[in-house]
Amino acid sequence: ALPTSVKLFEMAPRDGLQNEPGDMVPTATKMALIERLAKAGLAHIEAASFVSPKWVPQMGDATEVMTGIDRRPGVVYSALTPNLKGLENALSAGVEEVAVFGAASETFSQKNINCSIAESLARFAPLLERANDAGVRVRGYVSCVLGCPYEGEIAPHKVAEVAKALYEMGCYEISLGDTIGVGTPLAAKRMIEATRQQVPIECLAAHFHDTYGMALANLYAVLEEGVSVIDASTAGLGGCPYAKGASGNVATEDVLYLLAGLGIDTGVDLQAVIDTGYWITGELGRQPGSRVALAKGRV
Ligand code: HMG
Ligand code: MG
Repeated sequence: ALPTSVKLFEMAPRDGLQNEPGDMVPTATKMALIERLAKAGLAHIEAASFVSPKWVPQMGDATEVMTGIDRRPGVVYSALTPNLKGLENALSAGVEEVAVFGAASETFSQKNINCSIAESLARFAPLLERANDAGVRVRGYVSCVLGCPYEGEIAPHKVAEVAKALYEMGCYEISLGDTIGVGTPLAAKRMIEATRQQVPIECLAAHFHDTYGMALANLYAVLEEGVSVIDASTAGLGGCPYAKGASGNVATEDVLYLLAGLGIDTGVDLQAVIDTGYWITGELGRQPGSRVALAKGRV
């Protein structure tokens, strides 16, 4: 059955901008984006990434962004932290929620975070302990849940195994990433069926990229399985630097339109998100990657 309410996790400032080519997006633009998204009613925003600036230059101003934003009460501003160094930097910047990111593919793990899956889990354990001591919640990502750019198909049991490890370590929610957007609805459903046997369904999030135009169809399939947390990126911004050809996350505007049609309320102002999408893509010199935004237009 479909969930009665859905929690949206907004990705544009992090997954959306991390792969932006060319010059650094100005810190002030990133901050304005985060503030606009919060004002539109998005209550969970992944705002920055405390990764190595050599690996992901576009996120090199994470401290400035996290300390500079105007915080709205009731909104959670989170950040990626791949290791203890990233966590310490995030804590110094006053971050209240962080996320670790692993993968269901060995090769992708190596390319993205320079270690094996087992090494990544061993690295996350002390990070979770430290975050717990600091009263900071930790989300966990599993990448390549419906396919890997290097290894091709990924078995659902492998996704379930990594998700379980992250959950047992203390991650409060596990976000399942179709990093390169190759999934189709039946595969998405099977992946959730395997994973929900290891992690409660209410602790699973769908993080789907739209490379092949399947993200909304895949979301509908997993909503029917009871998934009630969706990661999306305003204007469909984004892509992973270590997943060649990966396009952005499913557009927040399109997810909001789908959910409204299903009678599922989110408390987010669709028009305000559309306008924000036009504004940020204008700053980046292009059109929003959201069909709903293009159809409705800006106000
Ligand atoms: P490494 O080179 O193995 O790290 O990288 P190291 O521990 O050997 O350190 C090397 C240097 O990096 C040292 O500096 C460290 O201090 C520095 P040096 O002595 O050479 O001057 N360093 C750091 N600096 C700042 N912040 C840090 C940090 N850690 C080390 N946290 C590492 C390992 C994990 C750091 C690197 O591989 C990395 O940063 N990877 C991040 C890649 C990334 O951000 N990918 C995109 C996000 S994941 C994604 O998009 C998928 C997702 O959306 C879900 C989906 O779609 O599937 C989440
Ligand atoms: Mg992603």
